[in-house]
Order: sequence, then C-alpha cells, then structure tokens
Amino acid sequence: MNRYVALEGIEGAGKTSVSAALALRLEEAGHEVIRVREPGGTAVGEGLRQLLLDGPPVTPWAEALMFAAARSQLVTEVIRPALDRGAWVLSDRSVYSSLAYQGAGRRLGMDSVRRINRPGLAGTWPEVVVLLTVSPQQGLARQARPDRIGSQGLQFQRAVAEGFARLAGEEPERFVVIDGGRPMEQVVAAAWDALEARA
Ligand code: TYD
Repeated sequence: MNRYVALEGIEGAGKTSVSAALALRLEEAGHEVIRVREPGGTAVGEGLRQLLLDGPPVTPWAEALMFAAARSQLVTEVIRPALDRGAWVLSDRSVYSSLAYQGAGRRLGMDSVRRINRPGLAGTWPEVVVLLTVSPQQGLARQARPDRIGSQGLQFQRAVAEGFARLAGEEPERFVVIDGGRPMEQVVAAAWDALEARA
C-alpha cells in the first residue's frame, strides 16, 4: 500500500499529538517518516497559509482554490517524492479537510471541492485517514489560538464535523474513526493498530 496517512478532525481533536506519537513508533520500527501539515510545508504553501489563516477576508471559492493550490505544491515537492522512496508520510490534514471545511462547512459541495483538488494531486491520495472525533464544543474549548477559519463558531464546526462523519461513512475502508476524547495513549494505540494492520 502507499504509506500516506492523513490525520483529520475538527479544531482541537488532537491530531498533532497523535501524529507525533505515531511518527515515533514508526521510526522505532525502522521506517523513514515525514511529517507535514496542511496548509503549509513548502515556501508557496506557507505563504498561502499565512493568507488563509491570518489574512484579509477571502471568498469561499478563493479559499477552496488556495487550499488546493497549497496542497498541489506540497504533494509535488514533498509527499510524492517521499512516498516514492518508501517513506511513511503523516499529514496533519489533507484533501479531506477541504471536503469537510469548504465542501460542507462553506457549503460549496463536496463533489465540487473534490473536482478542483483532483487534477493537482495527480493520483496522490491518502491511503488511510485517521479521523479523531471530538464534540464541536469540546474542540472549540481546546483550541489554542483561533485563526480565521477556527473562529467561525459552533454552527460551522458542527457542519464540518458532520461533513467528516459523512465522508467516513462513504469510505469505511479508508477511514479509521477514533474518539479523540479518550486518553491520548488509547487514541495512539487505536491509530497504531490500524496502521500496523495495513502495513
Ligand atoms: P491549523 O493551525 O493547522 O489548525 P489545526 O490545528 O486545527 O489543524 O489550521 C488549519 C485551519 O485551516 C483549520 O481551521 C482547518 C482549516 N482548513 C480548511 O478549512 N481547509 C483545508 O483544506 C485545510 C487543510 C485546512
């Protein structure tokens, strides 16, 4: 299988900590691991990240296209080469964030958002999506520093969470859904089980 694993979930679901813990385990098992985050990870992507998270108002479609542009750059420069040499790629967010946030949250429609992302990814798609669930209230409370998108409020977070749930339901073979409210060791153990089973 390809070793592209995306960590997904609403704000405050604990993706970053889980990604760090999984990277350690994979490295202990002798694998090369690359950790990336979206948006970002390239010079262009970090510039777009700044605009997307801290910049002036952006229309929903411009937002979706900017996330797609940052992702295309990251896949081409970093993710595809890493996968080609056999490394694991652990990504904090992926195209599935765009489907949930822009498709469901911004109501652009998941199919349309999928369509604008596909060409720029040229077939590089997460093999496994670890979806960490947390209630929108709990997630917002855990958020360290709300950015432009993270400060959209409870209704928006609910729509995004529903979007993720729908995606997981549509692709049960790709998604591993874990309750992010459980103690961190249990969350990491559950995610590790899923990776080991597929490795
Ligand atoms: P980030 O600081 O990485 O937050 P988090 O810790 O929640 O991952 O900010 C990323 C923000 O951008 C987050 O609010 C989700 C949003 N986002 C989208 O709306 N669409 C996307 O395609 C991606 C990758 C992120």
